[in-house]
Amino acid sequence: MYSRYIQRQVVGIGNRRYSTLLPWVVSGTVKSRKIVKANDCFIYTKDKRFIDFTSGLMVVNLGHNNKYILEGFKEHAATGISYINSLFETDQREKLSESLVEVSGLENGKVFYTNGGGDANETAVFLAHEYQNTVNFNNKKQRILTFEKSFHGGSTIGATLLSGDERKKPKTNHYSLPFESIIPNPLQFDGGLESLKQLAILFQNNDVAAIIVEGSSGSAGCINYPVGYLKQVENICKHNKVLLICDEVMSGFGRTGSMFAYQQHQITPDIVTIAKGFTSGYVPLGGVIISKKIASIYDEKPFVHGLTYFAHPLACFIANKCMDLYLEDDQCIIGKVKQKGHLLGTLGRKMKDEIDIVKDYRNNGLLGCIELNITDTDKLAQISNNLMDRGVYCFRRNNLIFTAPPITVHNTHITETMETIARILNNAQWKP
Ligand SMILES: Cc1ncc(COP(=O)(O)O)c(C=O)c1O
Repeated sequence: MYSRYIQRQVVGIGNRRYSTLLPWVVSGTVKSRKIVKANDCFIYTKDKRFIDFTSGLMVVNLGHNNKYILEGFKEHAATGISYINSLFETDQREKLSESLVEVSGLENGKVFYTNGGGDANETAVFLAHEYQNTVNFNNKKQRILTFEKSFHGGSTIGATLLSGDERKKPKTNHYSLPFESIIPNPLQFDGGLESLKQLAILFQNNDVAAIIVEGSSGSAGCINYPVGYLKQVENICKHNKVLLICDEVMSGFGRTGSMFAYQQHQITPDIVTIAKGFTSGYVPLGGVIISKKIASIYDEKPFVHGLTYFAHPLACFIANKCMDLYLEDDQCIIGKVKQKGHLLGTLGRKMKDEIDIVKDYRNNGLLGCIELNITDTDKLAQISNNLMDRGVYCFRRNNLIFTAPPITVHNTHITETMETIARILNNAQWKP
């Protein structure tokens, strides 16, 4: 009886049975390809090669099959350490925390470790509330401001509700938390003035604990900040005793041409959240870097928050290996991202100029997206299928096709891939 029930439930394409519930899609309707190997910017099925032009989900910054990182697995295995609880320490954990504090510029700060980006952001909210209670003696400062078009995670209720865009809708029907408030994204044409005005209005009630911003906007549409905007946000936050949380989960670790994207705006956030490129996706690990003013609260009281896999020894080992590569030769790999991003942007804007269905192209370094003026979901799915048929994997969300290859990508691969994408999009059949 039970097995017949299962059989009915796990339907899939053709005769294939699926027992995995997939995130974000209708399980069983996706034609998933079985990947058997990966190298550099490429992933392979048994008989086809694809360029991984969105680094998985903007994760594999250092490319696949990096020998230096892979050596780390062997070196760590040789220690025999599988898991230890957080009251014990390893050299690797402390080394990693020290280098994160240093590269973030959050002088004398500390690092808390999580499994990924969503739980890092949820941790940041808790820290912000504690800070307002403990240091500003204000337990009314509970609200967290977030942009209308933003994404801060989907794995926890807190992170989901922090996100501004439509992906939170199904959960807002089930849960409501009193802390989130939406502000409009800044627009280029007014230098973000309207957004700043709204921000000032929201600060009037003196109930805002923090504002969370992506260091550089990612999956909600790569909406670039006008020059000087984040600096003004930082100033208003300081003036109103509001904390600035920078979500660098997608934009961190060289993706936009600096270690963290906020560093392009000459600001120093109070809290920085990280994941994805932190380990280049070789193992799951997230983290929260906090400034001294927040960290010092916990010199006297416990941080009542935690998770079993806090600072997992293998994950810390691999993250250190990635840090070695990011920092090598004066951040040489990251130093080349601006030039590669310039090439990507030039080719993207050319598509905008020449192809009817391309509404816009936006990027910051190697974090970019093509916005199409198509809404027909079948056509959009066909475009993705055509890209795959030509050996190009790009993550697509609705009418946004993301272009974010590993930061180790060669210029020739950027040019070839953008030309392939342009050829596919430049086709009368997609016109509305
Ligand atoms: C900016 C940003 N923050 C947080 C997250 C959530 O990270 P995770 O999926 O590791 O929970 C994402 C995921 O894409 C993200 O893009």
